[in-house]
Amino acid sequence: MMKCLLVPILALLLTSTSTTVQAQFCNKESCTEDNVIRSCKNFDYATFNKNSPTIIYGEAAGRFGNQFLGYMVLFQLRRQLGVDSYINKEAQNYMLRYFTAESVTMPVLNETFCNSEIMRFQPYNGPFKDLINGDHLHKGKMLNFYPTVDGVRGGYRPEDHVSKEQEAFQIEYVRYIKEEMQWRNGIIEKVQRRLLGYARKLKKKPKEVTYIGVHVRRTDHLEFMKSLYDMDPLDGDYYNDAIEYFREEYDNTIFVVGADDMPWAKENIDASKGDVFFSESNPTFYQTEEGIWEDHDQEAAVYDLALLTNCNHTVISRGTYSMWVALLSGGEYYTEYGTIVPPHLQE
Ligand SMILES: *[C@@H]1O[C@H](CO)[C@@H](O)[C@H](O)[C@H]1NC(C)=O
Ligand SMILES: *[C@@H]1O[C@H](CO)[C@@H](O)[C@H](O)[C@H]1NC(C)=O
Repeated sequence: MMKCLLVPILALLLTSTSTTVQAQFCNKESCTEDNVIRSCKNFDYATFNKNSPTIIYGEAAGRFGNQFLGYMVLFQLRRQLGVDSYINKEAQNYMLRYFTAESVTMPVLNETFCNSEIMRFQPYNGPFKDLINGDHLHKGKMLNFYPTVDGVRGGYRPEDHVSKEQEAFQIEYVRYIKEEMQWRNGIIEKVQRRLLGYARKLKKKPKEVTYIGVHVRRTDHLEFMKSLYDMDPLDGDYYNDAIEYFREEYDNTIFVVGADDMPWAKENIDASKGDVFFSESNPTFYQTEEGIWEDHDQEAAVYDLALLTNCNHTVISRGTYSMWVALLSGGEYYTEYGTIVPPHLQE
């Protein structure tokens, strides 16, 4: 407790004192890795009661698609239910690669509470709509959002919770992203110039072009779908049929392919008609000792997401990154289960 009360004073002193002084006052509760003191407060069970807003904490597994989903869902819970939701550092780090610091407003649990390790959360693995509708869950609880419990795989997968509550919830956070969140580094202007360039190359008026983003997800997801759902990878025919569908459905189509395995995409997607362009970002990956795939350079994934979501319609593959492309692009999307026209585009 004392340590944390001292923080504001120490922060002033530290600008002119040596690292030994920092080391003396910095410890794991009150300082970041760089030994910079930050402000946190202690969580106190004595003041948390049945009228306090529920505290919800969630951690996502995996790369950006999942981290972004976790972030936005926790964010929307806070907005919609008035609960206090928190993310972890990893989610914040991912978000900061895509969006400006001003846009990434969710607090990190262990940076908010110096003593976050004493907080006891109760797992919430029930139906999502019960969490939305259940007033008794919005006050006085400390909930862990779809954690893995006793080796039973957790995680919030929207497809397991289809309901009108969830749909309304999703529409709200997608609208928030589009209207309120700023992408970093002028990336939207960059991809818009690129899309114009494609039209120019084909000597088409940009205004008359319909852009179709094609997202190819392979790498780690192949193994995931096989082991969990016994599903075989989507093959070249899937993407080529999808492209053919959009060529027939719309005039002046231009296809923009983003892939986590570009050599595979170039080999299997038929670009002979001249209207298919491949993103130049060429993301590459490595596997950690735990067998987890990580991006060599996140910027490639950021660029591709911006490029694909600025297209008018989408061909998706699998996984949450693909889901984001479809949601943020907002147009019709082609899936292995058929094409989906979002409600706002239906007459
Ligand atoms: C919070 O937890 C993360 C691991 O999730 C760790 O890297 C970070 O240093 C922690 N921050 C603080 C202030 O304890
Ligand atoms: C299609 O996408 C382009 C590029 O983002 C955009 O300029 C244009 O307004 C979109 N067209 C429609 C009909 O939404």
